[in-house]
Amino acid sequence: MKTDSAPQHHVPFPGRRRSLLDDARRESGSPSPGPSRGGDSLVALNLLLALSGEKNAGFFKAGRVFETFETKLLHVESRPRRCKNSSSELEIFIKCEVHSSDIEAFINSLKRVAGDVRTIPEEKVPWFPRKIRELDKCNHLITKFDPDLDQDHPGFTDKEYRNRRSYFSELAFCYKQGDPLPRVEYTAEEVSTWKEVYRTLTGIYPSHACRQFLHGLQQLEKECGYGEDRIPQLQDVSVFLQEKTGFQLRPAGGLISARDFLASLAFRVFQCTQYIRHSSAPMHSPEPDCCHELLGHIPMLTDKEFAQFSQEIGLASLGASDDDIERLSTLYWFTVEFGLCKQNDSVKAYGAGLLSSYGELMHALSNEPEYKPFSPEETALQPYQDQTYQPVYFVSESFEDAKAKLKEYSSTIQRPFTVRYDPFTHSLEVLDRPSKIQKALGQMREDLKILHSALEKLG
Ligand SMILES: [Fe+2]
Repeated sequence: MKTDSAPQHHVPFPGRRRSLLDDARRESGSPSPGPSRGGDSLVALNLLLALSGEKNAGFFKAGRVFETFETKLLHVESRPRRCKNSSSELEIFIKCEVHSSDIEAFINSLKRVAGDVRTIPEEKVPWFPRKIRELDKCNHLITKFDPDLDQDHPGFTDKEYRNRRSYFSELAFCYKQGDPLPRVEYTAEEVSTWKEVYRTLTGIYPSHACRQFLHGLQQLEKECGYGEDRIPQLQDVSVFLQEKTGFQLRPAGGLISARDFLASLAFRVFQCTQYIRHSSAPMHSPEPDCCHELLGHIPMLTDKEFAQFSQEIGLASLGASDDDIERLSTLYWFTVEFGLCKQNDSVKAYGAGLLSSYGELMHALSNEPEYKPFSPEETALQPYQDQTYQPVYFVSESFEDAKAKLKEYSSTIQRPFTVRYDPFTHSLEVLDRPSKIQKALGQMREDLKILHSALEKLG
């Protein structure tokens, strides 16, 4: 600990440095002399300051303040700032560490040598994956519908079915991003369940499903081995989807937590169950199964506009608060799972929860439920049912319209950063520095040049 009686070579802030500290402390009402370091910890600080003055005097004075307070610099960036009187100033962003007992004095000292000193709070945000391989950490399950735990599950008393489910869980938990998806040899009983579901649902799709869904299913039947006699393999479907919209699959052991599931959508990865519902209830499953995924979700994921819409929800979820995750998963529920849309003066289904459930699909397009126009602000707050049919459905004008509204809604989510997906590296870039934004703009300019050239060639 420093004392006034300490010899000069032991005083950490001699001469001018010492007076700077004292001046700052007088201003802030802190006791003088200098700071106590006993038990004092370093605190991270983000600062934005404007520097002007002749012959860079402000810059050098600010540097002395940093030196005086033994500040540890972590990052420094500068950019020109245009002032009202049209002279130029330098705006500097600094990330540093300063002793906690010095913060007030440190900032007061900076304010005397630099203009417009602002501290930018560093908010704690929930962890989220930055690289696609980090999705290996995003496999937390919600077990309330698991056949081992849910007494109402049709397979609860069937030991063989539960053993089979353990096998599928193992496949999913052992999977690592980038591995080929495990191929499954389905039993005759499982294929028979699939056949019944496939036949029943494909019978009502032409009158109930939206145009994009029908087109996607047609392609899957033609090019990806879809049909009533075999359950498609996730590996084949994943390869097919990647060619169509860049989406890929990874196996899931059951119902994935909302935060993890939405995070995977940000990377155009769809977490997909591989087991099938119990044979005693082919028209109902309390949890997602391969009928729900392969029939409900996959045909829609072949559509570029819908794929983009799905990824937008995922991107909005990254680092969001628990309350925002709740609202986004409700939005997901009423769109990707139970969404309706207008097409040729009629209403059609595009939600996977509808397109994989004969009963709810018929109910949704009957006169019974209430329809509301899709509006993210209202939809995100609508209570929903996961045990019975929905009493309310939201109708989108088009996917384009839904995507635009969702983007607008996403911008209202409070996050101290913006993310951008890099499709080349399958990673997320957090745009939290001016240099990163500038780099992203550079890439965008290159894309615009290509479009400009294409337009010119079209005359
Ligand atoms: Fe689903």
